[in-house]
Amino acid sequence: MAIYINEPAHTFNEYLLIPGYTPTSCVPDKVSLKTPLVKFKKGEEPEISLNIPMVSAIMQAVSGEEMAIELAKNGGISFIYGSQTAEDEAAMIAKVKAKKAGFVFSDSNLSPENTLADILALKAKTGHSTVAITEDGTSNGKLVGIVSSRDYRVSRMNPNEKIANFMTPLAKLITAKYGITLSEANDIIWENKLNSLPVVHEDGKLHAFVFRKDYDSHKENPNELLDDQKRFIVGAGINSRDYAERVPKLVDAGADVLCIDSSEGYSEWQKITIEWIRKHYGDKVKVGAGNVVDREGFLFLAKAGADFIKVGIGGGSICITRETKGIGRGQATALIEVCQARDEYYEETGIYVPVCSDGGIVYDHHITLALAMGADFVMLGRYFARFDESPTPKRTINGSIVKEYWGEGSNRARNWARYDLGVGEQKLHFEEGVDSYVPYAGPLKENVDKTIAKIKATMCNCGAITIPELQDKAKLTLVSATSIVEGGAHDVIRKEKDGSDR
Ligand code: IMP
Repeated sequence: MAIYINEPAHTFNEYLLIPGYTPTSCVPDKVSLKTPLVKFKKGEEPEISLNIPMVSAIMQAVSGEEMAIELAKNGGISFIYGSQTAEDEAAMIAKVKAKKAGFVFSDSNLSPENTLADILALKAKTGHSTVAITEDGTSNGKLVGIVSSRDYRVSRMNPNEKIANFMTPLAKLITAKYGITLSEANDIIWENKLNSLPVVHEDGKLHAFVFRKDYDSHKENPNELLDDQKRFIVGAGINSRDYAERVPKLVDAGADVLCIDSSEGYSEWQKITIEWIRKHYGDKVKVGAGNVVDREGFLFLAKAGADFIKVGIGGGSICITRETKGIGRGQATALIEVCQARDEYYEETGIYVPVCSDGGIVYDHHITLALAMGADFVMLGRYFARFDESPTPKRTINGSIVKEYWGEGSNRARNWARYDLGVGEQKLHFEEGVDSYVPYAGPLKENVDKTIAKIKATMCNCGAITIPELQDKAKLTLVSATSIVEGGAHDVIRKEKDGSDR
């Protein structure tokens, strides 16, 4: 006989946090949002942690290399979308890993035989004003000089002027030897008032640059999430079909963590995928799995060996899975049940498997609610799609600036591997997502800083300065429909933001 759960499943909007006692020591500056990304044994540290509990969704309209770099700078990570060829996905990963924080591989290179016109064309293409001049014009050829905007005046010079005649030659450059640490490199930059420092190998071949502006950026981004080689940490989406071809390419490109991207994860396909990864890479390759919405789904994936488990079916802003297939569960109820199962599993086995709440975050405070309910981090699509760093262009619709945002289950993304079960025809049989616009919201950093400030303030209201403490102390209440109305501005005539009348 079918099982009936007669309690309705709830969403984040139906909950509020009740403040707890706040001691004077509990202030936002003291709050740490560090949180585990992958499973760990009791008494040990996770191999990868996040500095903020936010990751960007495995979606074409969200997680490309630009998003990945900017989010890692701010303490979270992106999962580069898997609905592209394994080669293209691996190339995106490689680009993120090449942008080593501090040591930057030169992507603007010419030879002394090139001309001023070539410099200007390259600058227009890359936006970078420092060009490495190498013997053969490649990024790791023998360094013979550099050209920066101080070396030429466009109005006074012939565009055909050879670079050899106006570059700053090697003899006049301060360079550093390969093997130098970032802090030594920064000391040289400061002592010599340089804007950039080329780092060269013994044989004179260019390795990378260290830029003064990146040092400043590191100071501005104390949450930067870096691997042991000071490269940005990045994740990659995979599916339960072509993992044997895709995973090796992503691992070779430097992906730090993988995630099986599926709309429904309580399936033997996911177990088979994890087993394949364990057989070929042991525990070295980290892989998250999901999505599930109940205790059974969680336990299945935890026992299968997933490094973290994602929760959420049908709650995504672009998602029509519930309408189309009649499966899913209110996100808050699903999360609470899964987190309880996670805690019991930890008690029993001593293995802590982080839980990610995926989809359905509308307001910033929904993130705090998810954390309080037990999530270790949240995955967001719509939220990040609105920023400069998402891969889609800005557009103006009816006078408003928007960005495009489409579901992986829409006809536009055609991510059949995320939705189709079995090994049948490789096509999307019906849509589970829509194509849409979201209001443009500016740069990631500005928005994430504001969101984080709100999370920290609420945590302090609950008397918590860490996420585990919040999970321990949180007191949550369901709210009635009328009290939701009471929660917004009501019974007043609101002024425009600038203080004027509407
Ligand atoms: P959002 O943050 O509410 O926009 O939700 C993003 C999440 O929705 C993703 O991380 C996926 O789990 C899920 N998702 C992405 N594309 C689709 C789709 O086409 N249909 C259903 N769910 C989707």
